[in-house]
Amino acid sequence: MNRRRRIYEGKAKILYEGPEPGTLIAHFKDDATAFNNKKHEIIDGKGVLNNRISEFIFSNLNDIGIQTHFIRRLNMREQLIKECEIIPLEVIIRNVAAGSIAKRLGLEEGTQLPRSIIEFCYKKDELDDPMVSEEHITAFGWASPQEIDDIMALAIRINDYLCGMFRAVGIRLVDFKIECGRYFEGDTMRVILADEISPDSCRLWDIESNDKLDKDRFRRDMGGMLEAYQEVAKRLGIIMNSAPEHSGKGPVLVK
Ligand SMILES: Nc1ncnc2c1ncn2[C@@H]1O[C@H](COP(=O)(O)OP(=O)(O)O)[C@@H](O)[C@H]1O
Ligand SMILES: [Mg+2]
Repeated sequence: MNRRRRIYEGKAKILYEGPEPGTLIAHFKDDATAFNNKKHEIIDGKGVLNNRISEFIFSNLNDIGIQTHFIRRLNMREQLIKECEIIPLEVIIRNVAAGSIAKRLGLEEGTQLPRSIIEFCYKKDELDDPMVSEEHITAFGWASPQEIDDIMALAIRINDYLCGMFRAVGIRLVDFKIECGRYFEGDTMRVILADEISPDSCRLWDIESNDKLDKDRFRRDMGGMLEAYQEVAKRLGIIMNSAPEHSGKGPVLVK
């Protein structure tokens, strides 16, 4: 049945060749990984939730004129996307101190940062995605100064939108990671948002209780990861008619 050409299998997704040139199909797996794959588990239903949450966010961004690779969702686990040339950077946008910045700078987790801070990491699993500066990025040719400006402008717009969107449903957007790609339309090249935005790539805290609703539940062995992702989907108004069950089977989507 599955005769599509597999282009790439990563930690959380598989990319297949799309139906038309310049398109790909992203398949969201149930694999949960942390610390660059040192910790790995299958969480039944996670892929379905991330596919839906990422679809929701990317289609809203498309609607407000922020260009993304998202074309449309195909089924529970798959979406059709525009193929782009991924810029090998993980772009982290931080609003509140947590995780590595808290450790590095000796900040208490939960401290509001003086302003949103953008960090770049070189996307290279073998090296554990080391943090790099704009100097490294331009010296090694990973992105041009103009592209760095475009990435930062994109990151700030996305952050502003997402902060408001999550705040409206009682969630604090502590930080998140994006990947950007070069997308060619005829002669013009544009930097667009690629990959995914989901509780795998964000820190999301309940505004009232500070409960974590993101992948830190897995990284820190807190349990309740799937329930937390379900809570995020529910608050965003994403309707699923049953809790995700075993991979491949449930849930049946209502929309
Ligand atoms: N629109 C796109 N075009 C080409 N590659 C993409 C696009 N969106 C995401 N990717 C790449 O596809 C892969 C997604 O799989 P994932 O499991 O998340 O990988 P990883 O293990 O690198 O995090 C990543 O390497 C990501 O950079
Ligand atoms: Mg990834």
